[in-house]
Amino acid sequence: MKKIILSGILLLALGCMTQAQTVPVYLDETKPVEERIEDALGRMTLEEKVAITHAQSKFCSPGVARLGIPEFWMTDGPHGIRPEVLWDEWDQAGWTNDSCVAFPTLTCLAATWDPKVALLYGKSIGEEARYRNKTVLLGPGVNIYRSPLNGRNFEYMGEDPYLSGKMVVPYIQGVQQNGVAACVKHFALNNQEVNRHTTNVIIDDRTLYEIYLPAFKAAVQEGKAWSIMGSYNLYKDQHCCHNQYLLNDILREEWGFDGVVISDWGGVHDTQQAITNGLDMEFGSWTNGLSNGASNAYDNYYLADPYLKLIKEGKVGTKELDDKVRRILRLAYRTNMDRNRPYGALCSEAHFAAARHIGEEGIVLLQNNNNVLPIDLNKAKKIAVIGENAIKMMTVGGGSSSLKVKYEISPLDGIKKRVGDKAEVVYARGYVGDPSGEYNGVKSGQDLEDSRSPEELIAEAVAVAKDADYVIFIGGLNKSAHQDCEDADRKEIGLSYGQDKVIASLAQANKNLIVVNISGNAITMPWVKEVPTIVQAWYLGTEAGSAIASVLVGDVNPSGKLPFTFPASLQDVGAHKLGEYPGTPRNDGSNIVDEKYNEGIFVGYRWADKEKTKPLFPFGHGLSYTTFTYGKAVADKKVMGADDVLTVTVPVTNSGSREGSEVVQLYISDLKSSLPRSIKELKGFCKVKLAPGETKEVTFTIAKEALSFFDDTLHEWVAEPGKFEAIIAASATDIKSKVSFELK
Ligand code: GLC
Repeated sequence: MKKIILSGILLLALGCMTQAQTVPVYLDETKPVEERIEDALGRMTLEEKVAITHAQSKFCSPGVARLGIPEFWMTDGPHGIRPEVLWDEWDQAGWTNDSCVAFPTLTCLAATWDPKVALLYGKSIGEEARYRNKTVLLGPGVNIYRSPLNGRNFEYMGEDPYLSGKMVVPYIQGVQQNGVAACVKHFALNNQEVNRHTTNVIIDDRTLYEIYLPAFKAAVQEGKAWSIMGSYNLYKDQHCCHNQYLLNDILREEWGFDGVVISDWGGVHDTQQAITNGLDMEFGSWTNGLSNGASNAYDNYYLADPYLKLIKEGKVGTKELDDKVRRILRLAYRTNMDRNRPYGALCSEAHFAAARHIGEEGIVLLQNNNNVLPIDLNKAKKIAVIGENAIKMMTVGGGSSSLKVKYEISPLDGIKKRVGDKAEVVYARGYVGDPSGEYNGVKSGQDLEDSRSPEELIAEAVAVAKDADYVIFIGGLNKSAHQDCEDADRKEIGLSYGQDKVIASLAQANKNLIVVNISGNAITMPWVKEVPTIVQAWYLGTEAGSAIASVLVGDVNPSGKLPFTFPASLQDVGAHKLGEYPGTPRNDGSNIVDEKYNEGIFVGYRWADKEKTKPLFPFGHGLSYTTFTYGKAVADKKVMGADDVLTVTVPVTNSGSREGSEVVQLYISDLKSSLPRSIKELKGFCKVKLAPGETKEVTFTIAKEALSFFDDTLHEWVAEPGKFEAIIAASATDIKSKVSFELK
């Protein structure tokens, strides 16, 4: 007996020896990525493969420690790097080294209409994510602005697929040049927060392909996004985090996506579908994706033990598992395991400057009657600032994109700093909105409690305002629940907290009234005729006050343009007129809510054009402190073949007295088509800076792609021969010049 045991031990020792000698401990670094993937895959055990397809904590999933494959760390969000939370909780970890720069929200980025700014944005936020050792940045979001009530529109890039697509690509490139994966979200059709986990969107292919997919397609095919996040809602009765149509047929088959599909947190509901319908990494199961959920549930995730069990019982094979693991390993080699990965930076002067610049470029001057703006500091003796949004921290709140910042300059502080001793700046609250200052444990440190009545607050504001040279009302929404917030759509399109009354009272008290609306959504303005000057300032982040002040006093000439329509009323929005928002419960025992997008392709200005409704402020609108005049657009040919390119040129002149930038827009109109088309569709834009008196020729090239529509019976893009117009415009309603041409 002893002999047998001895020889057994000897054999075992020998075995280990040969095992150690034949398999190198670490992965081969010299080979091309695709070979390194096969190398690693071949060494992983079944348990290791299953383990890396799902989370092990709130924001990380395992690597393979034995093989030196690092863990995957995810971080929110699109506007800045989220503070660390505890391993398995939503609450703050209480670290002291994770304060960040809050960049302006993506509606502001879209409002710059400048892809160079988008690249700066992506590069800057990517450096912050890299420095914080994150593998994946959970952003940007490009869901289309379908309803002005959607709580998360502030995180997205507006109503037009072409603008969203052009602006998201450089952002992704900027992030990924840091060796951090962008994770474009929420794919797809996540256009509201009401019933976000249970809404089943019913939509025709034409609308899906022409309106809701293009920005994602650009993100994948031009931006080369390394990851995509599935959305909570359903499409064709399948949750989008494991959806055969969106993830396998479209994303992978049609678009050639080679990256990783990551679920939204709590977006996975079925093991079999998670295995076969295109999901690669499961996060946040049994959480609401925001604040609560089951702890230590990781082994029970749909792609955890239940998956392993099915494989071990021979009920499913390992083909899909190997495909998932290959894509996850590719993510590793593009990020954590890239030997040339840069080092990033956190809270650098460059990042603060970028945040301010993006804000200054995105602020939109909506109205400026009597040229109240820019403020003349040589004349002003007293400036009255009114409103809660002048003092309230806005980098906290709004849901998963909430941040813990190094600092935040409020509008009031920014104005005071810029005005200095040139004039007296006095402040009055005007109204009380949301006095809380805490989100997920991040505290603003502000005590905004105020027990005064609305009447007292208005009386104080009017008293402060009536003898001022300028009155600046700063209000809007504030990212608290139902005020531009995840998981809570707005309940109405108008301002809350009695702000309209405050504004009307101020308008009566002083004609030099400037209203600065801080929001990520359109609002209605019953006082629009009484208020001479209106500025749309987004959630501008860390440097909000600096950016607002520099525009108001004229250091910066505003050049932003609206990325979405401000409708005159909710009834002027297709989603509300026809669209069944927020959806109809099935009442079949399931919790599913069906919502038909009856308005189809007619979203935003497309609807306004079709219905001939007059928006409060149109898509693409934005004024300047100078003026621009357009010459006549000229095309280089009257007839173009399918493979030709048509060039349209238009001279634009700065006819004012100070330098400024203008966003020249190109819309295409198909005068006759076999399927209904929008009257016009944005197919080009160019932001051009002009010195006073300077003229530049702006040139657009038009290929057949710009003339095409998606024919869902043929399932392909079609450019039908016939007459077209190239429309040069300064907004969706400010048409400057048209030139006709024909496609042969
Ligand atoms: C949230 C959001 C998603 C976010 C994720 C992690 O519920 O829908 O955008 O990245 O969960 O916080």
